[in-house]
Amino acid sequence: MDVFEAIRSRYSVRGYKPDPVSDEALLQVLEAARQAPTAANRQPFRIVVIHTEGREEELARVYGRAWFLQAPLVLAVIAVPGEAWRRSDDKPYDEVDATIAMDHLVFAATALGLGTCWIAAFDPAAVREMLALPDDVEPIALTPLGYPDKDRTATGRRPLDELVKYERW
Ligand SMILES: Cc1cc2nc3c(=O)[nH]c(=O)nc-3n(C[C@H](O)[C@H](O)[C@H](O)COP(=O)(O)O)c2cc1C
Repeated sequence: MDVFEAIRSRYSVRGYKPDPVSDEALLQVLEAARQAPTAANRQPFRIVVIHTEGREEELARVYGRAWFLQAPLVLAVIAVPGEAWRRSDDKPYDEVDATIAMDHLVFAATALGLGTCWIAAFDPAAVREMLALPDDVEPIALTPLGYPDKDRTATGRRPLDELVKYERW
């Protein structure tokens, strides 16, 4: 699958089969995140791999949708602000970098036939508790990782001429 096909075929998967994800597939997904570009190559993110089996109650406190618990795995992308590159006005880029890493793993998963769904509407305190996160890191996005059990529902996009401006705002 080339990158354009992956972009076309990715969608937010909100229903998963319980089928296992092989260690090899998981490694390919994680490796894609590792290859993501980051500001000044600081790589200020970590990924926590969560096996859902046995952790259903904790996960339900994190994000209370039934489909969130269906896949065998959930990945959590965590930013590490203390490692971030900062712009001249001190704006830190750890969230941007963590987001790019997440997007890389999402497209690698798509290319492997795996489903994902960006989740930002999680309960941050529950994530911190479940993953024993220290105070100086920040959960950015979660996704289930598993085989899709639900077809895509069409989501539209704004036309390009609404999103793109040339030369000036
Ligand atoms: C940063 C971000 C946060 C999101 N958070 C959630 C979420 O908490 N729950 C959810 O069901 N979908 C979430 N989504 C998925 C979006 O709703 C979805 O990408 C959008 O509606 C377009 O649909 P598509 O991904 O199927 O193309 C999120 C997407 C992004 C990029």
